[in-house]
Amino acid sequence: MIDGQGRTIDYIRISVTDRCNMRCVYCMPEDGVAKTSHHDILNFEEILRLAGLFSRLGVRKIKLTGGEPLCRLGLEELVSGLAAVPGIDCVTLTTNGTGLASRAQALRQAGLAAVNISLDTLDLVLYETITRRPWLDKALEGLEAARAAGLPVKVNCVPLLPQQKLWDVAELARDRAEAVRFIEMMPIGLGKEFSGPGQEAVAAVLEQRFGPLTPVSERLGNGPAVYYALPGFRGRIGFISAVSHRFCESCNRVRLTAEGYLIRCLQYDDGTDLRALLRKGASDAVLLEAMAGEIAAKPEGHHFAAEAGAPDGAADETRRMDQIGG
Ligand code: 5AD
Ligand code: SF4
Repeated sequence: MIDGQGRTIDYIRISVTDRCNMRCVYCMPEDGVAKTSHHDILNFEEILRLAGLFSRLGVRKIKLTGGEPLCRLGLEELVSGLAAVPGIDCVTLTTNGTGLASRAQALRQAGLAAVNISLDTLDLVLYETITRRPWLDKALEGLEAARAAGLPVKVNCVPLLPQQKLWDVAELARDRAEAVRFIEMMPIGLGKEFSGPGQEAVAAVLEQRFGPLTPVSERLGNGPAVYYALPGFRGRIGFISAVSHRFCESCNRVRLTAEGYLIRCLQYDDGTDLRALLRKGASDAVLLEAMAGEIAAKPEGHHFAAEAGAPDGAADETRRMDQIGG
């Protein structure tokens, strides 16, 4: 559907759990977080019902996120249900990859269209520093398994520390037609405590190593990444820079938290409690109206760069990234 700012909203990110097996420093506290109880998160039946209604509102693409979505038992079953929803063209997953080795094949068979794998560094020691888990090998096995299963792969890397050797991560796109995207740290949750290098600094590092980055016009996937070619690279290098290269004017998405809140923008705290409506026995018409209302009210954009609060007086987000699903 078209939101209040004239943007087409055809993409939803659905968080299926706020749990994660890792503890990335910019996302989760070391000791973990209070676990949301099973009863409080949407069950598959509820997610599938909402997906059917979102499809009626014009949503065509679904990304499953977390926390770590593979922590949700039976995810394959949910993928196959979502892939079968009329009007939904594409179900994809964003994952840290550590649980993918044994599941990539089944996910592909269930109808998964592609995966995004988070890999902030290929340095064994630094990977553990950032994720607080010694699982680089598992993540790389997951990446291989996804490729072997025929799943198109994109790698997501959040630059935050000087020793990350971003060129090593970029090189994953050298021999394969896969994209490596550098995602600017957003001041959300624990991310507020970090400031990584900006897009220009990362680009300079890559250009020094590999030669000039040339912009390409093709769109890969659902989102706001801008892509570049590098000499000798089959794959593309992407940048997703929400703060320094704000892309709110082309935003195409809304988000559903694991607890069933429909959220209009990453930075705004309020949302519509679809779980409450579902569990009160709301009709499709009532749910559709609530969903359409939330989408219509999507703000013009975030104000990460602003000093003061939200321009329209709305409350800022207080959720963490693992709750919103990135
Ligand atoms: N800013 C940018 N990206 C973030 N992620 C988690 N927290 C932040 C943040 N504050 C990323 C993860 C993963 C994706 C789901 O979101 O690294 O790639
Ligand atoms: Fe888990 Fe992803 Fe958060 Fe890391 S960034 S703790 S992998 S949800």
